[in-house]
Amino acid sequence: MASDPTKVFSNYNAPWTAYREITGQGQYYLRCFEKHAADLDLRDTLTCLSIGAGCGESDAFLISQQMPRLQRYIAVEPDKSNVKDLVPRILEVMPKGANAELYYSSIDDAIDHIQGPVDVVLLFEVIYYILDYSDLFKRLKRLLKTGSKIIVSMCQDDLYKPVGIQHLKTWSGMADVQVIMRDLYPCQKLKEITFDSEYHMSKVNVSSLQVIACTTNVDEDDVTTFKRVVKTNENGMLEYKIDIDIITV
Ligand SMILES: C[S@@+](CC[C@H](N)C(=O)[O-])C[C@H]1O[C@@H](n2cnc3c(N)ncnc32)[C@H](O)[C@@H]1O
Repeated sequence: MASDPTKVFSNYNAPWTAYREITGQGQYYLRCFEKHAADLDLRDTLTCLSIGAGCGESDAFLISQQMPRLQRYIAVEPDKSNVKDLVPRILEVMPKGANAELYYSSIDDAIDHIQGPVDVVLLFEVIYYILDYSDLFKRLKRLLKTGSKIIVSMCQDDLYKPVGIQHLKTWSGMADVQVIMRDLYPCQKLKEITFDSEYHMSKVNVSSLQVIACTTNVDEDDVTTFKRVVKTNENGMLEYKIDIDIITV
């Protein structure tokens, strides 16, 4: 059973391409972006900051489909293997003449070096890895102007906690993020989107569960427990929901 925090994948290495290959989650994200293009309303984005950009699949989609005027894309990504996938993906879709900047570091180390203003901040599936995200939101304020957007996504539940797998260091729901944002930006506008994601239980084995639960400390017993405890639908799919909040400040 996972219990040693030093073996949690930590800030620096969530293997995101592998995660998405196992869960197929990317396709659900892209469908959601397509369906909610009007809610995201990214057409006039000139500068986009992506925190924990991962393998770049979501960002590349949004840049190519929904940010025709983009002039500056800033990615902060501390994981080497993610960066390897991210860079070519982004360069392929950047509008002509636009600039891409990469901070190969954690957001904590990068944030004071980033030059604003920024129109859109993407925080997809990354809040759980950031120990003090309240502090991050405070520090982000310097980069934003009236009308800037912060887009945050999180899985509604920690799927792995009920079976005793120590998951990410910090886990808190979107409700906490909303409280922090309301304190910082009393006049903010909030749009909330939820979409369904799922993956098949047959995909779960020791090595895949290590990737999707973000911990190396998984053994056969954990897999057996997980398969026993977690509810699946009649097709053997584990269903879960992902929230996206769009906060205009
Ligand atoms: C779950 S992945 C999400 C990737 C991407 N945003 C997406 O949704 O496709 C989280 C990413 O955040 C990165 N990350 C983890 N801790 C971070 C930190 N403190 N600052 C910046 N990025 C971080 C990880 O390396 C990983 O690529």
